[in-house]
Amino acid sequence: MNEIKKELLDEVIAAANAAYQLAYAPYSKFHVGAAALTTNGNVVNGCNVENASYGLTICAERNCISHAVVNGEQQFEVIVIYTEQDKLTPPCGACRQVIAEFFEQSAPVIAVNHKNEQQVWTVQELLPDAFTPKDLLDL
Ligand code: THU
Repeated sequence: MNEIKKELLDEVIAAANAAYQLAYAPYSKFHVGAAALTTNGNVVNGCNVENASYGLTICAERNCISHAVVNGEQQFEVIVIYTEQDKLTPPCGACRQVIAEFFEQSAPVIAVNHKNEQQVWTVQELLPDAFTPKDLLDL
């Protein structure tokens, strides 16, 4: 797994926490913040944004990655998912697919909570044999 310096990781966690504070989750009340460190050394974040038409909800991780892309960032070192749950929050299946599009297989995905408990997975562990841009090369 790729190593991230502690000070940098703390910065990413703080950005995920800041996004968490802005989550729009009036239906589930389940607030999520995410933040990613780009290979250019920038930190981008996103929160979940729900909708009265529930299925249109966007998760914090996908919002974070989309926010990065619109800022010209497409390569990432790590993503943090912040919640205030005792049980740490893993990314949903849709977010795993979007993470696999932009992160190396060895990149860490880190769930963090308000007690600063942490659980780390690699992208590979979360979505083995992912369908990625490499699978489209023969087109
Ligand atoms: N959610 C996320 O934002 N990220 C996850 O990894 C899990 C789920 C959101 C979607 C929805 O707004 C709420 O959490 C409950 O599912």
